[in-house]
Amino acid sequence: MRIGILTSGGDAPGMNAAVRAAVRRGWELGLEIVGIRRGYAGLIEGEAVPLTPRDVGGIIEYGGTFLHTARCPAFLTEEGRRKALDTIDREKFDALVVIGGEGSLQGARWLTEQGVNVVGIPASIDNDIEGTELAIGVDTAVNTVVWALNRIRDTAFAHERVFLVEVMGRESGYIALMGGLAGGAELVLVPEVEVSLEELAQQVSSIYRKGKHHSIIVVAEGVIARLGSTEVIANFLRERTGLEVRVTVLGHLQRGGSPTATDRILASRFGAQAVEDAKAGIFGHMVAWQKGKVVRVPLTVVRRKQMAIDLRLYELVHQLAI
Ligand code: ADP
Ligand code: F6P
Repeated sequence: MRIGILTSGGDAPGMNAAVRAAVRRGWELGLEIVGIRRGYAGLIEGEAVPLTPRDVGGIIEYGGTFLHTARCPAFLTEEGRRKALDTIDREKFDALVVIGGEGSLQGARWLTEQGVNVVGIPASIDNDIEGTELAIGVDTAVNTVVWALNRIRDTAFAHERVFLVEVMGRESGYIALMGGLAGGAELVLVPEVEVSLEELAQQVSSIYRKGKHHSIIVVAEGVIARLGSTEVIANFLRERTGLEVRVTVLGHLQRGGSPTATDRILASRFGAQAVEDAKAGIFGHMVAWQKGKVVRVPLTVVRRKQMAIDLRLYELVHQLAI
């Protein structure tokens, strides 16, 4: 059995660990594993490289993806899709393992609908994929936010300033909420909960009335999409509260770095399960994490989560910020 494996969409720390697990477990099961470079772009262009257990040595500790990844608009076109299916035929792939976020898994679903045998592996720092409590990369990204907040608190405290820290997550507030909770933020702004700038200014003023002299507000990028930029919030707060406000945008540093143990373990389990499923002839699903177990979720139900956060934890952040 010959299986193509690709990483697609935004990279997520732990993608390498997933490929390593798929290659090594697959090897033991007698499968031939072939890496496809640059996600769906490589599938269209036919960029295939056979992988042996030795080819994936020493990569478990690295973020990014040694196979490279891409956002691939061509895969949404008829011509691109035809070329991708041609590659699958030409390479004689019996199955594909697709590692990526919600968009990439929609691509996997489309391939399934064309009769291709596919197993998906959820990997995206946003944790916005319906059907899995955790995706590969989430834990590392949240830990990176905590790392950053620790440093920002030092200077926020020293200068008695308000800090707005913008984090990633697309339309999901997961990284903001969990990073904010673990990092001891005073407030988090997430797209799932609407808060007016006026309310925010009042909340900040009330923090200072309680005797605090600095505050950290974690802002999810999904909130910024509505407002234009984090500076808009900063200017409003400066005007209304008279406090000194600074903005830090964490940006792509949240996507890099050595994966945490949690991400390595999740990725290793997902990678191994995906090829075990392929060997057993079970396709059309993504492997997923639910209630402490690896489960299978049909690709047909994979979509972006409407509510990626636990609202009780949102309350908790603010309850603990007194
Ligand atoms: P992620 O997988 O991290 O969510 P994207 O949303 O950019 O990243 O998706 C990665 C790629 O998956 C896209 O560039 C495109 O090639 C493919 N893709 C995205 N959405 C779809 C879709 N609805 N149907 C088919 N392919 C899709
Ligand atoms: O999906 C992962 C993610 O990092 C989002 O949090 C962010 O909105 C987006 O990708 C950034 O995309 P790019 O790397 O293409 O700028």
